Amino acid sequence: MKCVYDNSGISKQTINQRKMELSHYIEGLREIIKERDYSKDEGSLCLVDDTNLLEEVIKLVEKKRSKNLKYIINIGIGGSYLGTKAIYDATRGAFDLLQKERYPKLIFLDTTDAEYMSQFISFFKKENFVPGDVVFNIISKSGGTTETAVNGEVVLQLFKDSFENWKEYAVVTTDKDSPLWNSATSLGIDTLEIPKKVGGRYSVFSAVGLFPLALSGVDIKAIMESASSIRDRCLGDDDSAIESAIVLFEQMGKGIAINDNFYFHIELESLGKWYRQLMGESTGKDGKGLTPTVSMGSVDLHSVVQLYLGGPKNKYTSFIYTNTFQNCTLPKLNMLSHIKGIEGKSMGDIMMAIQQGTMKAYEKMGLPYSEIFLDEVSGEEIASYMQFKMIEMMLLGKLMEINTFDQPQVELYKMETRKILAEK
Ligand code: PA5
Repeated sequence: MKCVYDNSGISKQTINQRKMELSHYIEGLREIIKERDYSKDEGSLCLVDDTNLLEEVIKLVEKKRSKNLKYIINIGIGGSYLGTKAIYDATRGAFDLLQKERYPKLIFLDTTDAEYMSQFISFFKKENFVPGDVVFNIISKSGGTTETAVNGEVVLQLFKDSFENWKEYAVVTTDKDSPLWNSATSLGIDTLEIPKKVGGRYSVFSAVGLFPLALSGVDIKAIMESASSIRDRCLGDDDSAIESAIVLFEQMGKGIAINDNFYFHIELESLGKWYRQLMGESTGKDGKGLTPTVSMGSVDLHSVVQLYLGGPKNKYTSFIYTNTFQNCTLPKLNMLSHIKGIEGKSMGDIMMAIQQGTMKAYEKMGLPYSEIFLDEVSGEEIASYMQFKMIEMMLLGKLMEINTFDQPQVELYKMETRKILAEK
């Protein structure tokens, strides 16, 4: 992974000046890692080389993974699923429809949608699952989120009706002693614990993400190693996460309100949504914030990019791309189109041309942007990107003088919803 800020509109001098402001905080982050201090808000930094965590997850995966495992029903919302979906979709999920025979597959139940749930129930019943075909995992940090509770109740009932030993195929991931934890343990369901200070959007490398990913076949040891290595680099000799935080911070000072994250690999859309939550919930408070948006190359060039190039200049774009593609070449004949130079070229070369053409257009319109170059689209590289971004967000929060780890207004809607439901 490599980051380039040459077109960010922020000078090297400004970046270097700001670095000094962060040095004390960075020292503190190093200390948290050294002491494996989960009691701090930044405790999520200790996850990626936590061998006890890895062992515990692998042990439960071995217990739950039967030879015939086909589906893992992942029930959770927000930080309790976006990271899992980001890695799953990037490595396999985006191709679920095309790779019909590849199992196990993850099915995500996040919102409470009556239509989707009734389709899911019909699917579940029609499949006539035998024991071991399907496992469910309920994930909720607080153990009290309405959507997760509702979906969890429906799925649990389905399992109870289908399998005598239904508990063998159930897992609950939550904070120790949360209401969900207490119900699960009293029912005899296996539980995985989320460290108290590890919040939803920073939890992908806890059991929240590791368990379902490992069960679906992702090499979690490899992704942990990769994330651990970039963590140490970003808090060591490599200043790129620090620079990224400073560049984002400085954009706000210049009146930029939106950070558009433009991914040129269609299987990274969920990664964009994960980052959108990370930035949205981390920076949006005390009347401050940078609004994150997600664009997909090249689809959104034919959708919102006119507005981005020709509309208000209040956006800062992060282009995320690779130059590693599957070998897929166009035929030599060019019978249908009149576009010169495509015949015999690889799809990857064409995508690169579109991506570079887009950056050139941004440059010509004088719009600020940065580049994140990924070596490849793999679990390891995506994990590096995620760890990098979580560090960037902690540093950005420090510069903005906000609490990057809470989400008081999300709690507000949850409370009001519970009140309405209790009254009716
Ligand atoms: O990042 C966050 O904290 C939130 O988005 C939560 O992840 C989301 O509200 C779900 O909460 P919980 O995991 O407690 O069910």
